[in-house]
Amino acid sequence: MEQTKRRRLLLIPLPFQGHITPMLQLAHILHSKGFSITIIHTSFDFPNPSNYPNFNFCCIQDGFSQTQSSASDLLNFIIELNINCAMPFKKCLEKLLSDSEKEEPIACLISDALCYFTQPIANSLQLPRIVLRTGGVSSFVAFAAFPFLRQKGYIPIQESKLEEALEELPPLRLKDLPMINTKEPEKYYELLCRFINETKASFGVIWNSFEELESSALATLSQQFSIPMFPIGPFHKYFPNSCSSSLISQDQSCISWLDKHKPNSVVYVSFGSIAAITKTEFLEIAWGLANSKHPFLWVVRPGLISGLEWLEPLPSGFMKNLEGRGHIVKWAPQQKVLAHPATGAFWTHNGWNSTMESICEGVPMICMPCFTDQLVNARYVSHVWKVGLQLDKGVERWEIERTIRRLMEVNDEGMEIRDRALKLKEGTKICLQQGGSSSSSLEALVTYILSLES
Ligand code: UDX
Repeated sequence: MEQTKRRRLLLIPLPFQGHITPMLQLAHILHSKGFSITIIHTSFDFPNPSNYPNFNFCCIQDGFSQTQSSASDLLNFIIELNINCAMPFKKCLEKLLSDSEKEEPIACLISDALCYFTQPIANSLQLPRIVLRTGGVSSFVAFAAFPFLRQKGYIPIQESKLEEALEELPPLRLKDLPMINTKEPEKYYELLCRFINETKASFGVIWNSFEELESSALATLSQQFSIPMFPIGPFHKYFPNSCSSSLISQDQSCISWLDKHKPNSVVYVSFGSIAAITKTEFLEIAWGLANSKHPFLWVVRPGLISGLEWLEPLPSGFMKNLEGRGHIVKWAPQQKVLAHPATGAFWTHNGWNSTMESICEGVPMICMPCFTDQLVNARYVSHVWKVGLQLDKGVERWEIERTIRRLMEVNDEGMEIRDRALKLKEGTKICLQQGGSSSSSLEALVTYILSLES
């Protein structure tokens, strides 16, 4: 990079796996463009800084203990984090800014969109703030529409109207709106309002997505937001061999198990790092997988089944009776699993990282969204990009078995989905090539950051 003085970037992720991973990937991308990197992270849940010798780290106290489960009350956790971190973050920023006068100038702050508390603080210190939105653009458009949807009476959603099409946001139905199961909906709407407004007040948004995938949502947002948008994804394909930022150790036995299976024969099942299911749903999934007669690799994260440790509900002898057709692990090397030739489908909760990772490997999806952006992502996978099928009739063994067969067995529908998934995979390669949309957008981002006066 041609510049007189090296510039430093300050990056602050939200302390969840699905947010830390893309922020660290972005750090690698921007470091490769000549920027120095300081990651400001909370004391709750963070990978070991010694795995990232190229970056500086600054820990701020968030007031949470490791025993305080973030997943069990996601909404209140994010709200409290935004309150607790404000003062420690401000002090940390003041110190970094005063130190930088002697070293490299700080070009800007890059903040997770959900760390909205950082916007007024950056403003007060005259530090430009750029937002990283770790989710997709299409779901963000739905979040941004909440005030309007509430005004029109769509939200709160009436049980009887769940299946109705939302004309203003096609192809979403009311049941695809990014809701969360909470007893305090007003708190959720307020959080969304802050998250959207503080994004609007920022200097721009970086997306782990690419123009060809979400062109229509990007066009909609560009009309609503007068700030630049930088879709530079898929992030994980810039440096595929970089150190994993997984907070849980990944069970490598998955790969040797997959090696024993035929191409496109295995259903990989994982619901990400936060989602939880009931014991009944767990058993329906287990029987659905077993009855489908297709091999499966299933990530059952400790804590996935609400209130239970791990696999307690599984009937004794269940796995033995499958004679090697099933493999259960606590956490998988997901990107390697999706890239493995034996993996034929991904049954996912449609967290944005999982969705992008699946798209990049051309693996068709079975969609079972749980909350927020996942609901929108699943609708786009099944009805816009048409690279998957949504489990629409609830988590029931017969429906699971039927859906797996629709996707995995020789039939027109399954083949068409597989073809489209492979075409989309090609698109992800093209956008990263020189002159491709994401590559050009990254160059524009670098130029933009260098033009910022802090
Ligand atoms: C959260 C939210 O739930 C999601 O809606 C939002 O889009 C991002 O933040 P999470 O539920 O963890 O994320 O899902 P996802 O975005 O898919 O991220 C999970 C990450 O964990 C992926 O990068 C995936 O590769 C990794 N993973 C998952 C593993 O490494 N091993 C596993 O066994 C499962």
